[in-house]
Amino acid sequence: MDKKYMAEPYRIKMVESIRQTTKEERIKLLKDAGYNPFSLRSEDVYIDLLTDSGTGAMSQEQWAALMRGDEAYAGSRSFYRLEKVVKAITGYKYFIPAHQGRGAEQIVLPQLVTKKGMYFISNMHFDTTRAHVELAGARAIDCVVDECFNTQEYHPFKGNFDLLRLEQIIQEKGKDNIAGIIMTITNNSAGGQPVSMENLHATKAIADKYGLTVIIDGARYAENAFFVKQREAAYANKSIRAIAKEVFDMADVFLMSAKKDGLANMGGIIAIKEDEALFQLCRTYIVPMEGFPTYGGMSGRDMDALAVGLEEALEEDYLLHRLDQVRYLGDRLRDAGVPIQYPTGGHAVFVDCKVFAPHIPFDQFPAQAVVNEVYLEAGVRPVEIGSFLLGRDPDTNENIESPLELMRLTIPRRTYTYNHLDVVADAVIAVYKRRHDLKGVEFEYEPPVLRHFTARLKPVK
Ligand SMILES: Cc1ncc(COP(=O)(O)O)c(C=O)c1O
Repeated sequence: MDKKYMAEPYRIKMVESIRQTTKEERIKLLKDAGYNPFSLRSEDVYIDLLTDSGTGAMSQEQWAALMRGDEAYAGSRSFYRLEKVVKAITGYKYFIPAHQGRGAEQIVLPQLVTKKGMYFISNMHFDTTRAHVELAGARAIDCVVDECFNTQEYHPFKGNFDLLRLEQIIQEKGKDNIAGIIMTITNNSAGGQPVSMENLHATKAIADKYGLTVIIDGARYAENAFFVKQREAAYANKSIRAIAKEVFDMADVFLMSAKKDGLANMGGIIAIKEDEALFQLCRTYIVPMEGFPTYGGMSGRDMDALAVGLEEALEEDYLLHRLDQVRYLGDRLRDAGVPIQYPTGGHAVFVDCKVFAPHIPFDQFPAQAVVNEVYLEAGVRPVEIGSFLLGRDPDTNENIESPLELMRLTIPRRTYTYNHLDVVADAVIAVYKRRHDLKGVEFEYEPPVLRHFTARLKPVK
């Protein structure tokens, strides 16, 4: 693709209407939603940047594949078509579908926790991964490089493992107490930040030294591969598929929320390289929890759409445009002085709300306060990734202070144009200009698990 003349690499064939609301309407809607935009109806949102999960547009090939889908419970052709694609991309021996990423997590992670007092170590656990680690009776330790927390400084791979600390943690906790090393690629929670191939190889070498299982949490593995190609000289001439394969070669298990780089609206993947015993355990537990092992919570048509989407997500034109949209929004904000995680990562622009609203303490959730104002400003729905999301320490029940208080402006795949992104940028910049007037929020209702999804809040007086 000629970058100089780059526009969306698709023509729009079908549209979904979106509607602007008035500021008065939004004030009432947000109050009714308990100052938690998760509880808004999407019809009351003008530009929805809550998530890139299952919110992208499918291609004509995927829609055609939907029609091809079988609805058989056991052994459908759809399952075997999807299995073939997953095995070809990963090179793994075993595949089980799940209804989405957390479905895959709830099946696999408990199998790796073989006794009390175990730990998973990740560059950074995603929130549902952390929840499933804890539900399985283990503890989650994040081990990302310090550069990740300095949002203003350029670093090409802010998702990298801190290798020294990784080894220290293994030695301190004892290798027999480590249930696995989870490579989260890209690192969603810190800004969709990539992990370099060099760092993944070094992490793998440490895992091998101590005989540890490596799990890829690879919701955005294709975006990660594209960053490796762009930012790591040795990979400039390799195909995305080859780069991804090199990553899969390093791991034992691949868990994927296929709602991201599967370009599907629903779906999850469990792929196991060669551990037959683990595969049998997962096949057993998937039945009561997700469904029979040849559908695992997915319908035949969804499996067919995913089989096509997995291939399309590896296309370079698609990835170039995808990451350029994120860069574009990030540049517009940076040019206006708005602090963002820099450089931008794969699926979203993350606004640093510790810098944006330093007068709001962490337990009044500064990023949530900014999220709410952006909705009030223009009907744009971002999401908080900070102390509100992080929750409480399972041992002490104290609020955990997140090292980063981020507002994520998540860009769905193939869905919005650069015009939409201009509206988003204008809204965030307008809120930035009156940032000193923002107030924090406090709980009206706090759920015990994954509280950010369903909590009700109110502005601090
Ligand atoms: C890195 C990562 N892992 C796991 C998940 C969970 O996937 P799902 O939302 O499909 O359950 C997500 C979802 O955003 C994610 O970003």
